[in-house]
Amino acid sequence: MTRVLVTGGAGYVGSVSAAAFIDAGHDVVVLDDLTTGHRAAVPSRAGFVQGTYVDESALARTLAIEGIEAILHCAARSLVGESIVDPGRYFRENVAGGVALLDAARTAGVERIVFSSTAAVYGAPDTTPIPEDAPVRPINPYGESKRAFESAMAWYGRAYGLRSVALRYFNVAGATPALGEDHEPETHLIPNLLRAADGEAEATVFGDDYPTPDGTCIRDYIHVSDLAEAHLLALEATEAGDPRTTEPLVCNLGNGGGFSVREVIAATERATGRPIRYRVGPRRPGDPPVLVARADRAAHLLGWRPARPSLEGMVESAWAWRQAHPAGYGRSDA
Ligand code: UFG
Repeated sequence: MTRVLVTGGAGYVGSVSAAAFIDAGHDVVVLDDLTTGHRAAVPSRAGFVQGTYVDESALARTLAIEGIEAILHCAARSLVGESIVDPGRYFRENVAGGVALLDAARTAGVERIVFSSTAAVYGAPDTTPIPEDAPVRPINPYGESKRAFESAMAWYGRAYGLRSVALRYFNVAGATPALGEDHEPETHLIPNLLRAADGEAEATVFGDDYPTPDGTCIRDYIHVSDLAEAHLLALEATEAGDPRTTEPLVCNLGNGGGFSVREVIAATERATGRPIRYRVGPRRPGDPPVLVARADRAAHLLGWRPARPSLEGMVESAWAWRQAHPAGYGRSDA
């Protein structure tokens, strides 16, 4: 049993991961400022501190008072488009705030961290599937900020013995019966398709003139519960003396195969049994044509393999959550 602080634990990925940690027997404290997270998403068996990781002294106090032994760092600004028009926010929060978190951890003697990183660190890659040693060349401030935090974390490891795993996720989808995706604004493909299936709004396909078989972008989707499982395995890998984190460890997480936007639409029609109304619009700036992970390092070193690889299954679970929570987390986060 480990006492883990989950930053961003009121968000989509953080809440599902917090619940999985508790199910695995760990003690969890969620830290979230609720700017984008939802109080109702925090698992009832987790402790909750409303606050931000960017406040170093407050965080150092929380880590000490709560007796935290490891951190899962999911909190971040995470909108690519916003990062292009407001880069300062990304460098202030994700990078400077991230360094505050590392210093607070050092002050409190917390030596284990798992970091939610992103495929956005690779930018527009030359090869596919993308291995972890592909050049890291982000094409937006969001990806740049995640890369900068990865580097800071690695150097803190060399200087102070911090043991870390950075997980570079590609696309995350699906829900558990209790916890799902509720963003405002919603920018992701699958939730927007589910809104269209519900007749709320027509969906837009961002470009169908890419160099792919059907002209739409290809992405590698994993189920959010598989991601939570990867977080759990990564946490175990940061235990003192574990040779996997003598050096900072970086792993991609993916299904090893991709689906085009049109294939996701077809899967959503099958999963919901409803037609999806959509139109084809222009390309969204900064979208690479194909992003598919090479995930064999996570398989070899963490023993991680996606247990729920079916895209249709991911969409079915997201659809079930949406139907059970028509207003998302609604007003319950107030
Ligand atoms: N798309 C549409 N219509 C929409 C939304 C998305 O056609 O309404 C397309 C996008 O152009 C893209 C694909 O569907 O080709 C997936 O888009 P998402 O916004 O769902 O996800 P991204 O691949 O853009 O983003 C994900 C993560 C980011 C991360 C990025 C790595 O959500 O945090 O992968 O490049 F930065």
